[in-house]
Amino acid sequence: MTARSSIAAAEPATAAVPGAAGARPPVAAEEVVVLDYGGQYSQLIARRVRECGVFSELLPHHVGVEEVARRRPRGVILSGGPASVYGEGAPPLDRRLLELGVPVLGICYGMQLLARELGGRVSPAEVGEFGRSDLRVSNPGRLLADLPPEQTCWMSHRDTVFEAPPGFTALASSTASPVAAIEDVERGVYGIQFHPEVVHTPYGHAILERFLGDICECARDWTAASIVGEQIARIREQVGTGRVICGLSGGVDSSVAALLVHRAVGDQLVCVFVDHGLMRRNEGEQVISAFRDHFQVPLVAVDAERRFLEALRGVTDPEAKRKIIGREFIRVFDEEAARLEGVRYLVQGTLYSDVIESGGGTGAATIKSHHNVGGLPDDLEFELIEPLRALFKDEVRAVGAELGLPERLVWRQPFPGPGLAIRVVGGEATRERLNVLRDADFILQDEIRGAGLYRELWQSFCVLPDIRTVGVQGDERTYGNVVAIRAVTSDDAMTADWARLPYDLLEQIASRMINEIREVNRVVLDITSKPPGTIEWE
Ligand code: XMP
Repeated sequence: MTARSSIAAAEPATAAVPGAAGARPPVAAEEVVVLDYGGQYSQLIARRVRECGVFSELLPHHVGVEEVARRRPRGVILSGGPASVYGEGAPPLDRRLLELGVPVLGICYGMQLLARELGGRVSPAEVGEFGRSDLRVSNPGRLLADLPPEQTCWMSHRDTVFEAPPGFTALASSTASPVAAIEDVERGVYGIQFHPEVVHTPYGHAILERFLGDICECARDWTAASIVGEQIARIREQVGTGRVICGLSGGVDSSVAALLVHRAVGDQLVCVFVDHGLMRRNEGEQVISAFRDHFQVPLVAVDAERRFLEALRGVTDPEAKRKIIGREFIRVFDEEAARLEGVRYLVQGTLYSDVIESGGGTGAATIKSHHNVGGLPDDLEFELIEPLRALFKDEVRAVGAELGLPERLVWRQPFPGPGLAIRVVGGEATRERLNVLRDADFILQDEIRGAGLYRELWQSFCVLPDIRTVGVQGDERTYGNVVAIRAVTSDDAMTADWARLPYDLLEQIASRMINEIREVNRVVLDITSKPPGTIEWE
């Protein structure tokens, strides 16, 4: 699933969002289209292009040349992909892309497609080339100008270009690729066999800069500030004088979405923050103080702890917990919405990665099943405002920083909608157990932040299983709770690795938990990666 950076209740899954077929391109910015041939790095190409200050959308390779032309792109990039250009059903190149009058850059499979289509020689090589490789630039041409003649790059291919097409210049070779980069400046067609978008290609960024700047002549003015300005204009246009509601969770997505809308239409916006009593220590207060006190956003804060805990009484099954929390959330949100007169619009923190994963990207992409726990139902009679729909997570954070959102909210790790309730594992989420977990979690966060590791970790949290173990403290035998530490690194929550936290830090965390929390007498570390484990325990 896509990690929800915050309570899913406020940011429901986008699979159900009407018209999730693509990010609406901004009105002003120049754009470079990345056509996705199914490569594992395709999204990354679009992100890297944006890091160079150029707006970029990832579109399925079969989207049709008209769709590409409609965007009036300054350039087109053809991504890598798993197919062989000779394979049955291999995604083809639409020749009309080369007649749009803008530069085209093929990467990996994209280059092979161009080479083959334009009369070069592409064949399966005896050996594939996967991983780091040495690139030797024989003729830098336009694309590789001013770069060192020898550099490393990242390869991932089996088919190989053996001869550049007529009219093209071969620029470089690598260990296993006789022709690793080509260009035909006249036609504006370029190709590289390696992946400039991954960090293992040290000059990859420079090559993309060259393509976008010198070759496509993009202005490179896509910045957090320009996004803010553009979105504000767009929201004003959509909303007019209407009233808007936004479910605020404390996560970065709903926070940034709310702030953008507030900048655009001021007090026509009302935020609803439902404190279900399953948050981390102080988190509710932080949200309220940032939005109500600092940003002066009209905010309805509902203290619904008792209601949620009553609904959760006696419930131990994880899915039942999720359902109950989701149901209660909708009820509370509905009640609050009903109190507000004339609300027509609902803000949602849908991100561009959600759009792509819901089918807006490659047709071949796996459509992830969102947990969508506590998501708002589809039949709410609101028109959606989705100011983050064109943005990647890192851009959302940049926009948040631009809007002055406190660092703690900008960089908050993902936190599940059902909150701490699904971390009281195998047992009932009572107030007492939640408090033990909250205290342990507070110490963990405190130490992780103190060690400067918070941003490096995808998530770090504690789990409180429903077991007791024997211990000895002072001269007394104890029979106390076990706390498990879960810390993972990940890019997207689809896979994750357990974080190798320093031993000294672990010792400090464990000793603080045992000393400071009376109920805890043992601390363990979860060393399971995903797969086979999941990030959460239930
Ligand atoms: P798993 O445990 O499936 O989690 O590896 C992947 C990511 O999803 C988050 N998660 C949830 N988020 N509602 C949410 O909003 C949920 O019910 C839920 N369950 C898991 C989890 O924290 C991780 O980031």
